[in-house]
Amino acid sequence: MDIKLIQAQIENDLAAVTSLQALEEVRIKYLGRKGLLAELTGSISGLALEQRGAFGKEVNVLKNKLLSLIEEKGKFLKKSGSVEKKENLDVGLPGIAQELGGLHPITQVINEICAIFTRMGFSVVQGPEIETEYNNFTGLNIPLEHPSRDAFDTFYLKNYPKLLLRSHTSPVQVRAMKAHQPPLAIVVPGRVYRPDAVDASHLFMFHQVEGFLVDENVKFSDLKGILELFAKSVFGQDIKMRFRPHFFPFTEPSAEVDISCIICKGSGCSVCGRKGWLEILGAGLIHPDVFKQVGYDSKKYTGFAFGMGIERIAMLKYGINDIRLFFENDLRFLKQF
Ligand code: DAH
Repeated sequence: MDIKLIQAQIENDLAAVTSLQALEEVRIKYLGRKGLLAELTGSISGLALEQRGAFGKEVNVLKNKLLSLIEEKGKFLKKSGSVEKKENLDVGLPGIAQELGGLHPITQVINEICAIFTRMGFSVVQGPEIETEYNNFTGLNIPLEHPSRDAFDTFYLKNYPKLLLRSHTSPVQVRAMKAHQPPLAIVVPGRVYRPDAVDASHLFMFHQVEGFLVDENVKFSDLKGILELFAKSVFGQDIKMRFRPHFFPFTEPSAEVDISCIICKGSGCSVCGRKGWLEILGAGLIHPDVFKQVGYDSKKYTGFAFGMGIERIAMLKYGINDIRLFFENDLRFLKQF
């Protein structure tokens, strides 16, 4: 028997092996008790004496080579288990569906609100979450010593005493008015931060949408009309709306805006605290001092502004009673939207 031929045959057989089971079959074929190598060894005694030594050596070399080739192949097959898996592939099995994510409920409500205002001609503008103390307070007519500043004095940046995490989206009023001349109609969605203790209705981070419009002859009735259109689009045509006098430093006059309770329709329930009304936002005519800060002529221009908390709107819209649910990443909650 030609040892070289046998070696070539072994290499061919091993190249075709794609599973550990097939490898074992090859091993038995050559190294088994009745395998080819046993046969070769057995044939030595039939050789002439002077040939035996050399032939025995060749058989031994071949055997060692085969052992190391089998070991190598075994290691390779174990590492790339995929070869095994390929053999088990069942093309009749259904495919693995790619799950599609959905938009977070807060994002959905922001999109809905921005869509309502863009239909009315407003542009959507965003501002930075790290804001200057000036834009967040002073530019909005909230001076250092003003008591209303306590309510949302916020997280300052270490080593940057004039920078903070904005406590509302109103500073974008200052940015936009400094950058552009009237007429302006802008809505500003975004995150805001306050050092509030966390409970069912408070978080240290939440979302707001700010809106403002500046032009000649803007009247309080324009504000009322636009907000009523907004509230009815979000909460339904049959809700009522009311303005309650309030104070904000950056608007004068200012108001808090309520809608009739969407649960009890105004008769009084636990959601509205038996009042029949739910507060949804703050609003007013832009204070002349804000115009002065941004360099607008307050004799020529008037404007209105409003600001609302998105989580609050979403909670009312969907009947959610705990703000923390929005940010727990619980799919049982998030999948409902
Ligand atoms: N910035 C106010 C807040 O965070 C909300 C607000 C109230 C914004 C009245 C306004 C406004 O533009 O006119 O509480």
